[in-house]
Amino acid sequence: MQGALYANDLFSIGKIDHRISSSLAENMGRGIYKGIYDPGNDLSDSDGFRKDVISAVKELNVPMIRYPGGNFVSSYHWEDGIGPKNQRPQKVDLAWQSIESNQFGVDEFMAWLKKVSSTAMMAVNLGTRGIEDACNLLEYCNMDTNTYWANKRRENGHEVPYHIKTWCLGNEMDAPWQIGHKTSHEYGELVNETAKAMRSLDPTIETVVCGSSNEDTPTFGIWETNVLNECYDNVDYISMHQYYDLPAKGTMHHVAKSLRMDQFINSVVALCDAVKATKKSSKTINISFDEWNVWYHSNEHDEHVKSWQQAPHRLEDVYNFEDALLVGSSLITLLKHVDRVKIACFAQLVNVIAPILTSENGLIEQTIFMPIRDVSKYGYGETLRTSVQSPSYQVPEFGDVQYLDSVIVKNSADTYTVFAVNRHETETMNLAININDDDRFQETSHLSYSCSDPKFSNTADQSVTEETVHDDGQITLKPFSWNVITFKA
Ligand code: AHR
Repeated sequence: MQGALYANDLFSIGKIDHRISSSLAENMGRGIYKGIYDPGNDLSDSDGFRKDVISAVKELNVPMIRYPGGNFVSSYHWEDGIGPKNQRPQKVDLAWQSIESNQFGVDEFMAWLKKVSSTAMMAVNLGTRGIEDACNLLEYCNMDTNTYWANKRRENGHEVPYHIKTWCLGNEMDAPWQIGHKTSHEYGELVNETAKAMRSLDPTIETVVCGSSNEDTPTFGIWETNVLNECYDNVDYISMHQYYDLPAKGTMHHVAKSLRMDQFINSVVALCDAVKATKKSSKTINISFDEWNVWYHSNEHDEHVKSWQQAPHRLEDVYNFEDALLVGSSLITLLKHVDRVKIACFAQLVNVIAPILTSENGLIEQTIFMPIRDVSKYGYGETLRTSVQSPSYQVPEFGDVQYLDSVIVKNSADTYTVFAVNRHETETMNLAININDDDRFQETSHLSYSCSDPKFSNTADQSVTEETVHDDGQITLKPFSWNVITFKA
């Protein structure tokens, strides 16, 4: 099978914002407790943070991490999680019907971020709370004033403000399951006033307004339009969330689902720009795709999780290789939309629908780990508009689906990286690359990640690994593979 890629330096989609490799660490299941924070475990450091998790997160090179939710944020009292640990109240978490010990809060999160060399994307509760509490949290985190909440931070041992730049104004407020769910007009007005108040406190912040909780919700489109009409001038990004469901129509359909992400982004861009046009505004709203992943493996287990436990096993999907290729194609899709997608968070980071799965005595890097790591590591610079030629197959929902899914990134004046998925289950693909009308390039490395069994999952004993390929003049993509190929011009 033959595939070809064409690109030209003159046709750039845009600069890649490293924040498209961000993630979500929600205070739910074993995401924080028993995942990130596990005092008493031999694998943890003196602050209670798991050292093996710190190394794995560093390997993923995650530039920004959204916290504390997710659904959890919509009934969270952040003040319960600060100050002396023995005085913090144990509370119910209404979103996940669990018990929250509050032993890990904002200050622990900020301390842990330092250890993993990342930054915070903080969410405020606009479900059960509102403007005042959002401003209090912002004051606690960012202000240098001699005022109550800034002084509380100092009292808790943090003299220097955290200067958190990016703030999510609620979470999935359109969703019927959200605690404190609102209509689009109610939410739009609340966001506008909250963003205004927060910006008057700290004008350097940027804000993310909630878009629809998923692409299939009946109010999709109307929600974005109504909300943006209320708050357009005071927000910077609109959020998108998308979880791929089970492969009911087989592997070849599953690995094509990234086309849904592509269509979804195009729709949200159109909705934002329609509001921009009616408002005759010169301002553009960009996208924070702040939850995306495959999520279905744990559904059956989770129906039987007992309520009011602390850190129960919940949403612990064990991913397989077909999921890894879908994640790879989704990353390629995000790279193709860097003109509008400035933030994207694979959801989540540890244990809960995550690339990192811990047990008491170690962790597994799941199959989806590799493509996420590779894009964070090699996906810098700018994305070039890439023309892909490839044989294709038919999927009723999507029409023609190319076996080759790929994009070219220009890393520097003379270095390029190609990310490529060969969706074909059995055939190798020979790949020709032409950049700036030239097909002579010096390959510096080709990482190939493939598996003949789409249902293979990594375990403590056995995992799929990336191998270095020496192409010798002809680039070949193994059947059912993820590839990262770097060249010098
Ligand atoms: O990531 C799991 C959940 O999915 C989040 O809490 C919520 O925002 C979404 O519905």
